[in-house]
Amino acid sequence: MSANERVNFGSKIGIILASAGSAVGLGNIWRFPCEVGENGGAAFILVYILCVMFLGIPVMVSEFLIGRRSRANTGGAYEVLAPGTQWKWVGMMGVTAAFLILGYYGVVAGWTLEYMVASATGSLSESKDYTLFFNDFVGSPWKPVLYMAAFILLTHVVIVRGVKDGIEKFSKVMMPLLLLIICVLVVCSFSMPGSSEGLAFLLRPDFSKVDGKVVLDAMGQAFFSMSVGMGCLCTYASYFTRDANLVKTAGSVALIDTFVAVLAGFIIFPAVYSVPGLSPDAGPGLVFVTLPNVFQLAFKSVPWVGYIFSLMFYVLLVLAALTSTISLHEVATAYLHERFKLSRKKAATVVTLVCMTLGVFCALSFGLLNGIRLGGMTIFDLFDFVTAKLMLPLGGMFISIFTGWYLDRRIVREEVTDWGKLRIPFFGFYIFLLKFVAPVAIASIFVNELFK
Ligand code: PHE
Repeated sequence: MSANERVNFGSKIGIILASAGSAVGLGNIWRFPCEVGENGGAAFILVYILCVMFLGIPVMVSEFLIGRRSRANTGGAYEVLAPGTQWKWVGMMGVTAAFLILGYYGVVAGWTLEYMVASATGSLSESKDYTLFFNDFVGSPWKPVLYMAAFILLTHVVIVRGVKDGIEKFSKVMMPLLLLIICVLVVCSFSMPGSSEGLAFLLRPDFSKVDGKVVLDAMGQAFFSMSVGMGCLCTYASYFTRDANLVKTAGSVALIDTFVAVLAGFIIFPAVYSVPGLSPDAGPGLVFVTLPNVFQLAFKSVPWVGYIFSLMFYVLLVLAALTSTISLHEVATAYLHERFKLSRKKAATVVTLVCMTLGVFCALSFGLLNGIRLGGMTIFDLFDFVTAKLMLPLGGMFISIFTGWYLDRRIVREEVTDWGKLRIPFFGFYIFLLKFVAPVAIASIFVNELFK
């Protein structure tokens, strides 16, 4: 397919919402509160915001410009911009990461689907012991597999409809809906008795908690949450129109993503603190064990409010997860479609089947395959560690070196300033961040943490 025939997103708002859809996901609503809870609250959030500003945004702009300039999938983009070099491996690492992330992300997305169904049918509110409910569910030999497969299939349905009619249309409906649900939930959560303690946890930083691990976690979380470091946004940017302002788009996406993450904290922690005996550092179980408890205990006298609160929350999780799985699927589908000249439908089917297969292993690693450990980690944990803590930061580092050092400065300037039409106040600073700050910061955080 020549560059001119390639599909584009139809509007600027579509571009922002699709990219924000990729960024906003379980990373914000499930992983972020869990990291905040385990890393001591407000201080973690501050380190996180620094990572977003000085590492995440520059890398995101770079991904955008690589994608839009090459007008190719992530796997092919580096071969267009740096033909005959080894840079292609950065793209290949991105495609590999897409398969791996979708494999394990699909599992948690499947849990959200199960919890949405259980909320709707009332079986969640009937349960007495949510730890048991959760452990029974994730440890079952077929349920999580089924829900994971259903979720990836749902993703498949949107993907085969294409970029404009599938991804863009879907994001334009889902993202406003998602923001609306979040706002309603924040108001509900604030109005709970005892919520001020939860707010204090989020707003009063304790810097004695900040160490190397916290910084590595914050960086990994920033890359994961913003979907940067593996070419998701690079693939989306290959469908951007010429008139999209890359810096503004990256700024808007980062802002929406951070806003949603912090709001998710504002939903979860005040709610958790409003029920005595629940703790904010419950880890991955926070939204699946702690919150159902909150929904039930806090609304004991008015159960229908608890029912609606809980249903809305899990619908929110499903929507957020879906716009992200779509973007992961697209990375791999676009690669197979363009590289091997498969039809879009065939390419999508291959991706769906491979990810479902990986998903089976990850889903079962909470039950049947729990005994299989590598470096003490279950298959699921290993996928999470290898992608979020290794591949994304490493990808981010190479992407910044590529745009900062390798790529012709003229190309960077043309893309970022729209052929000189836009005045970009911090262009020099942006290059400085890419050349020095991002690579050095990522490398040192890595070395410090992984080899100590
Ligand atoms: N950013 C998504 C989230 O927050 C996850 C994701 C990571 C999506 C990497 C695409 C690429 O849930």
